[in-house]
Amino acid sequence: MEKGYQWQASMAASMCPPDLILLQEKIASCELCPLSLSRNLTVPGSGPTEAEIMLVGEAPGREEDLKGLPFVGRAGRLLDEALDEAGLKREDVFITSVIKCRPPQNRKPKKKEIELCLPYLEDQMDAIRPRIICLMGNTAIQAVLGVVGVTVLRGRILSDRFLVTYHPAAVLRNRNLMADFVSDLREAKIQSLKLSKDALLNEE
Ligand code: URA
Repeated sequence: MEKGYQWQASMAASMCPPDLILLQEKIASCELCPLSLSRNLTVPGSGPTEAEIMLVGEAPGREEDLKGLPFVGRAGRLLDEALDEAGLKREDVFITSVIKCRPPQNRKPKKKEIELCLPYLEDQMDAIRPRIICLMGNTAIQAVLGVVGVTVLRGRILSDRFLVTYHPAAVLRNRNLMADFVSDLREAKIQSLKLSKDALLNEE
């Protein structure tokens, strides 16, 4: 356990009904884990509250922690480029991460941190109800689906709405992954449009 810090039981799980503004406030004042002691700003996520597509990364980095916005550093610029190539705009999608506070030195989030932060993401999914949720990288895949293996699973849609893809930082390290990353985002767009159309037809 971190020195001098008392882990607390998660209260986000009991939040009902899910309301995004309330949720942002809860995240902003969250002190459930020690990341709250070192953060500058929480990074709850950004995008339309009725987005059809949600993108989920791992955790904020230095620039995100300073601005309170997701994916505004180098990985974010690559994400913008990939979204553009896929025919999507940042303003069209809701972007967030499993962890809402920056882990020191950008280390991987700990199991306990993920466990305590995950209910916020689940409440965001319930409130926004995106048709397609892109899980970017193994941290998001494991936290949400309980499995790992981005290289094997990428491009697949699991449990009807979770599209597995690479984390933008992995694409930054290996630009050969860019084509697949763009193709996955394009697929997210195609599938979300298809699901919207099906829903409209079912209403008639
Ligand atoms: N990486 C993430 O996973 N999330 C961010 O917000 C920024 C970088």
